[in-house]
Amino acid sequence: MKKVTIDEIELILSNATDVPVQWVGQAEALRQLLACWITVDPRDLPLTPRIIGYPGTGKTTLGIAAARERRQDVYIMQCTSDTRPEDLLVTPVLSEKGKISYHASPLLSAAISGGIAILDEGNRMSEKSWASLAGLFDNRRMVESVVAGIVINAHKEFRAAVTMNEDSSTFEIPDYIMSRLQPGIEPGFPSREDELKILEYNLPFSAEEVLDLCVNFLQKAHGLDLPYSIRDGINAIRYTLKQRETSPDADTGALFENALQQILGKEALDLDSLAAKRKASGDTLPGMGLGDFFFPDNDDLNPDNPGIT
Ligand SMILES: Nc1ncnc2c1ncn2[C@@H]1O[C@H](COP(=O)(O)OP(=O)(O)O)[C@@H](O)[C@H]1O
Ligand SMILES: [Mg+2]
Repeated sequence: MKKVTIDEIELILSNATDVPVQWVGQAEALRQLLACWITVDPRDLPLTPRIIGYPGTGKTTLGIAAARERRQDVYIMQCTSDTRPEDLLVTPVLSEKGKISYHASPLLSAAISGGIAILDEGNRMSEKSWASLAGLFDNRRMVESVVAGIVINAHKEFRAAVTMNEDSSTFEIPDYIMSRLQPGIEPGFPSREDELKILEYNLPFSAEEVLDLCVNFLQKAHGLDLPYSIRDGINAIRYTLKQRETSPDADTGALFENALQQILGKEALDLDSLAAKRKASGDTLPGMGLGDFFFPDNDDLNPDNPGIT
């Protein structure tokens, strides 16, 4: 357990993560992230970018891999809608002897020890929590823990990135925070060649036939802009390989389809229709408001009734 003392307050630091990861292919995203973290002059400051994309597209992996490339410790701070400002900084813990000890979050531990913090799924966090970090991510590079009553200046080598999912279950992050989390980096969907390499790297024991089936599926989905990801592919391959063990006579193609259906739903078996359906619903369905779930469209009580202004 690493401890540091700041203004006579002893802080217990979080542990760095030690998951071994490697970034495969998609070199442009890695280059962009590493560029954000360099300084070109003693007066320059690093940037704190957002890594954006659908779930399962490698955002967290990219952050960890880039930190490893810089040979710095990496601290993962998982953000949720329940993350409170003190969770992001210092949490007081009452010990058995009735003494309070102060635990530094992974984010603060990175800032103190000169590591790299990945704020994972930052879009889930409320404005109140983000507000407490404003000074850490601008030229002040400092943050105040109200709980511990101390001000912490970030180490010169401290770097950070925030991952954000492109889905709807999230808070709107206010502009003054967004302006501190720039630029946006999008790993996007990999090319066929990179996708095969990524799957091979993650599943080196897989039969080539199954890898090929999976790359064909994923590439077709990417071409139609459907949000199926490497993670979905990895799950489908794993399940197919397991089923091959228990049903050795079954056709591998059929097992893979079966895996897709059980993991992603029946609609994943006909990507063209799914893409057409999504397009049609996106283009033609009128927006629904909360009121539409409780009242008929034309009900005067429905606040989303177009007749009410
Ligand atoms: N370029 C890549 N190199 C290596 N692994 C990758 C790459 N892209 C995605 N993956 C793999 O895909 C899976 C999902 O990645 P993850 O970083 O958890 O996605 P996200 O954070 O976007 O939800 C992981 O198993 C990861 O190893
Ligand atoms: Mg992630």
